Amino acid sequence: MCGIVGYVGQKQVGSEVVIEGLRALEYRGYDSAGIAFLRSDKTLCLEKAVGRVQNLEGQLEQIDDTKATAAIGHTRWATHGAPTVGNAHPHYNADRSIAVTHNGIIENYLELKQELEAAGYEFVSETDTEVIPHLIEFHTNRSKTFISGLEKAISRLRGAYALAIVTTKTPDTIYAARLSSPLVLGIAKSAAYIASDPMAITSHTKDVVYLNDYELAAVHKDGSYDIRDYKRAQTVNRKAERLEHNHASGELGNYEHFMLKEMHEIPDTIRAATQGRIRPDSNTVKLGGLESVADQLRFIDRIVIVACGTSYYAGLVGEYLIEEIAGIPVEVQLASEFKYRNEPFSRGTALLAISQSGETADTIAALKKVENYGVLRLGVVNAVGSTIARMTDSGVYCHAGPEQAVASTKAFVAQVSVLTLIALHLSGGNSPLYKPILHELEHLPAKAESILAQAKDIEKLAHKYKDARDFLFIGRNYGYPCALEGALKLKEISYIHAEAYAAGEMKHGPLAMIDENFPTLAIATDSPLLEKTISNIQEIKARKGLVLAIATEGNKDIKRLVSDAFYIPGSLEQTQPILIALVEMLFAYYVAIANGHNVDRPRNLAKSVTVE
Ligand code: G6P
Repeated sequence: MCGIVGYVGQKQVGSEVVIEGLRALEYRGYDSAGIAFLRSDKTLCLEKAVGRVQNLEGQLEQIDDTKATAAIGHTRWATHGAPTVGNAHPHYNADRSIAVTHNGIIENYLELKQELEAAGYEFVSETDTEVIPHLIEFHTNRSKTFISGLEKAISRLRGAYALAIVTTKTPDTIYAARLSSPLVLGIAKSAAYIASDPMAITSHTKDVVYLNDYELAAVHKDGSYDIRDYKRAQTVNRKAERLEHNHASGELGNYEHFMLKEMHEIPDTIRAATQGRIRPDSNTVKLGGLESVADQLRFIDRIVIVACGTSYYAGLVGEYLIEEIAGIPVEVQLASEFKYRNEPFSRGTALLAISQSGETADTIAALKKVENYGVLRLGVVNAVGSTIARMTDSGVYCHAGPEQAVASTKAFVAQVSVLTLIALHLSGGNSPLYKPILHELEHLPAKAESILAQAKDIEKLAHKYKDARDFLFIGRNYGYPCALEGALKLKEISYIHAEAYAAGEMKHGPLAMIDENFPTLAIATDSPLLEKTISNIQEIKARKGLVLAIATEGNKDIKRLVSDAFYIPGSLEQTQPILIALVEMLFAYYVAIANGHNVDRPRNLAKSVTVE
């Protein structure tokens, strides 16, 4: 979704730094981009373009002087108003002395707009953001200093925002403010940066300061900064922290697409998520992240998992795992539903948020909702230092590294791997499945590698089914969340209508849709319920439905029954989801490629959904 980058420094490299940062954020999905920079003559130059950052760069090449000691830039994912140049950020006031980039939504913008219009301000875009530069002008004109007026203006905004502001009035300082939308400062010797995602600035500095809600920061060209909490009206002293992990390793390398690259990283992802956490010598699981809350975990009698999208489906796999292995009741809720539900919530319930980005607005809101309930808040998060990672009491990182393709692949695998470890950890070693699963986790990377080695076979299947307009995915038990995730993957990147059903529900509705043009992907891997799934496949066959099955190696019978079968290596029912999901991802990928779609940036979708 939207991305923000800002620079202020001694060197005149603002435009380059911002463009480079915007490029690093491209993977998040956007539809237009823009930049505002301060020239040496202290005038503000604004450029915007629809489409790729490359288009914006092209426009900048036409400009004589792009040297800037201060600059802010933005990639926009349209919410209020179509993706046009006029609606692209930065937005500015009438005399172009103040420019603003904004992630989020200003909920009271209509009210503010009416007020400003009554005071004579004119608007040129359809966005909510445009009220901000005018509001800043209004208040700074009536205040002693720019910063005090800025604080007044920002205090009037309701909703969610991460802001970067540049002004001709203070050429050596740019500003940042946040509420419910991530923002980080990057600090260097003679420069300072602002970014909505550290990935945009880690090539310049690894010393960062995360802003919290209701904080306004002034960052100066010598690398110093001042932060104020404008809700409590007090100064905040926060030292920079060093990012240890390498955010910048997200290069495409020899792969054609990030999605393909990230699927090929899955064997290593399983290793990274489990290694060091499984002690083969003692056959135990050690999750350092949960040690500090060990006492509280002992009293947990229910877990509510909240997440969105693919992370939600990882949560559903987690539900089966935790209930079966640790015997703790689990409920999985969509974060967007959870935050508005009035449900009883006891102290014995822990809330577990799952998020790749750690910045999903609905998941953050779900965590906020229980802030004062006195309950334990746990996280399974990939992005280190992200908002969710910081707002949970404790958690386990996925260690999947940067995931850039919009459709989640390796992060799902890492989430399921971590949830398996959490289930084992919570069981205290008392489950008969404990040792077999630990053992199997060590073999999974090699099994994932063997699936990747057969990618060509999956590609052939994808070519056979690429023209389907609809697809049904069915599975039972652990296969059911896999069916849901498989259908999501296919819709996301191939735009084929795909629905998932628990196989046992076939007769309660979906069977009516089946004919020779409505294929089914059936998860028919080894499980105590396989025979029941086979009966469901028979029912589909009897209605002339084509069936593509994912089965376990060695099951020759199924080949005779279905139109096509892809075999995965044998594994425990509890660890199969990782292998099944990999096949589904590859299938969706090749179908999308065969239909000429942009797999890494599917239409209308964003990688990190930072608005409600
Ligand atoms: C978006 C992404 C999905 C992701 C979901 C939740 O929809 O396109 O891939 O699963 O957000 O994101 P999170 O970062 O919280 O896991």
